[in-house]
Amino acid sequence: MSQEDASLEARLEEQETFEPPESFVEQANVSDPGIYEEFEENWPESWERAAEFLDWDEPYDEVLDESEAPTYQWFTGGELNASYNCLDRHVENGAKNRAAIKWEGELGETRTYTYGDLLNEVNEFAAALRDLGVEEDDVVTMYMPMVPELPIAMLACARIGAPHSVVFAGFSADALATRMNDADSEYLITCDGYYRRGDALDHISKTNEGLEDVEHETETVVVDRLGDDLDHSLSESQHDYDELVEAHAGETVEPVSRDAEDMLFLMYTSGTTGKPKGVKHTTGGYLSYVTWTSHSVLDLEPEDTYWCSADIGWITGHSYILYGPLALGTTTVMYEGTPDYPDKDRFWEIVEKNRVDVFYTAPTAIRAFMKWGKEYPERHDLSSLRLLGTVGEPINPRAWKWYYKHIGGEECPIVDTWWQTETGGHMITTLPGINEMKPGSAGPGLPGIDVRIVDGAGEEVDAGEAGYLTVQKPWPGMLRTLYRNDERFVSEYWEEYSDPEADEWVYFPEDGAKIDDDGYITVLGRVDDVLNVSGHRLGTMEIESAVVGVEGIAEAAVVGGDHEVKGEAVYVYAIPEDGYGDQEDELEERAIESVEDSIGPIARPEEVVFTPELPKTRSGKIMRRLLEDIASGNELGNTSTLRNPDIVDQIADQVEND
Ligand code: WT7
Repeated sequence: MSQEDASLEARLEEQETFEPPESFVEQANVSDPGIYEEFEENWPESWERAAEFLDWDEPYDEVLDESEAPTYQWFTGGELNASYNCLDRHVENGAKNRAAIKWEGELGETRTYTYGDLLNEVNEFAAALRDLGVEEDDVVTMYMPMVPELPIAMLACARIGAPHSVVFAGFSADALATRMNDADSEYLITCDGYYRRGDALDHISKTNEGLEDVEHETETVVVDRLGDDLDHSLSESQHDYDELVEAHAGETVEPVSRDAEDMLFLMYTSGTTGKPKGVKHTTGGYLSYVTWTSHSVLDLEPEDTYWCSADIGWITGHSYILYGPLALGTTTVMYEGTPDYPDKDRFWEIVEKNRVDVFYTAPTAIRAFMKWGKEYPERHDLSSLRLLGTVGEPINPRAWKWYYKHIGGEECPIVDTWWQTETGGHMITTLPGINEMKPGSAGPGLPGIDVRIVDGAGEEVDAGEAGYLTVQKPWPGMLRTLYRNDERFVSEYWEEYSDPEADEWVYFPEDGAKIDDDGYITVLGRVDDVLNVSGHRLGTMEIESAVVGVEGIAEAAVVGGDHEVKGEAVYVYAIPEDGYGDQEDELEERAIESVEDSIGPIARPEEVVFTPELPKTRSGKIMRRLLEDIASGNELGNTSTLRNPDIVDQIADQVEND
């Protein structure tokens, strides 16, 4: 490192606050600090500002209806169509030839869909879905990787008022079946396979395996991604995507006017119990909210080329690859593959080639980039970038600064956006044209978002003290319920801090956090038994039940341990059944296989540790905290309150020796 570089690094390391560059502020969509007050004074009518981004077929009567709280209703009486708002109106307004989706295939091929192209293909596929029998309110499942047919299918569903339920393609056959059964979903859109690091992966076999466990008849549409690279045959209830679209070439389908509160989609997410939760999002509130936050937080404009590197199979992709950016008429980049194929500069090549203005990724990716070194971004001209974002887990100041310097060239603000599948869109973040940034702290709640950090009794804690994150007012993008499980909706999110007698409702996202004197919030992570592996939420119970399902394993505890790139990694502690003590290698293999089969490779355990006992309190509860410390290599605290303190050292020795 040169002397100049070294002093730059040292300066950066010490700097705790960063002002947004003047050049950014001057052009920012939102730069008047008065917006916070404006939202507060005029609440909830201030939310009309979000609804105004959309074209409504029927204007709404009321901004917020609280009569059924905590099932709040937004923009009641209003009617609109999401696909109309993402496509038709831009074409009508002269943007027919503007790129809507720029798709980058892993092998280097590209496809560009203008708004006009996308509208045509969505129309044709919507006509095909109708022809297959899909009716308004039927849930259509999609089990697809990052191919353009995925957003096309989602928008086609939105056009005919059929809610979609996208299952991440990396999830297992079991996970697919569970979700299709829970939603009674009789339609599935999938593909034959996809490419990963140049290899053709079979996806249709996994799909078919999942379908065997689906309890009802299913019509399936299969996209042919691999051509001759994979031989497969379709059964009678399986239709080829291209043939369907061709059969409906040139057809158009009138977008269905949906009630603001009608379901736009379902998205399943992991919780503390073994059963995933079907988070329900609506047409009016959700779409207004993601459009407003894409405008104010991501600063998107129609002229921008924007890239969010998430997978559409997660909420980040729904809100900020598809709905928000397209509702604004922006060009959204979609990348099929991995960041290190064919080389570790793939992302920067994509940024340079597409002249990306705004880039949104996850801390786990940034940590991987850091590990690979600055020479990869340095190979490319990244000067088109104006704003950077992160989401998924806390970002440590070192990674933040690396991103700021080596990707943003110290000229782009960074938005560290805290939100969840359930919140629909951003909740806590700086507004890039207004607030200074503090690496490691997401920032204040957005205008209109009333976040408070409380103690166990619900009282606000002092600045600097750790507490629980709560949201004390509703917002348009919030989930409405858990699909067909209103009871669990209340018990999961509202029971902890609300006062139902007084009709006072407080949303609890199950994160710990602290707040500083300026109202900046540092999120500390989940306080429930949910892990955050590479920014993905995994329930420990789901993994545990997969492990104890293995013959020869009597009991298991799953915890998260620190991991340099993934943030958290899955650690399994398991007790073999009598007589299986000498088969640990096979048991480990089977435990890993079982986790991959029931959830998917993302949940693959980092390590399976066999032990004759698990550390338990005198009342018989497993001491998870201790197991986490062992997995993370932390100093171990007091173990004297345990029923079996000796076991702790034994387990720790074993983890060190492995
Ligand atoms: C959980 C939600 C929102 C899309 C991606 C994940 C954690 C998310 C941040 C952030 C600290 C964060 C929280 C949250 N999280 N963003 N910027 N800083 N933590 O969605 O799967 O619903 O997970 O991710 O723990 O509760 P999700």
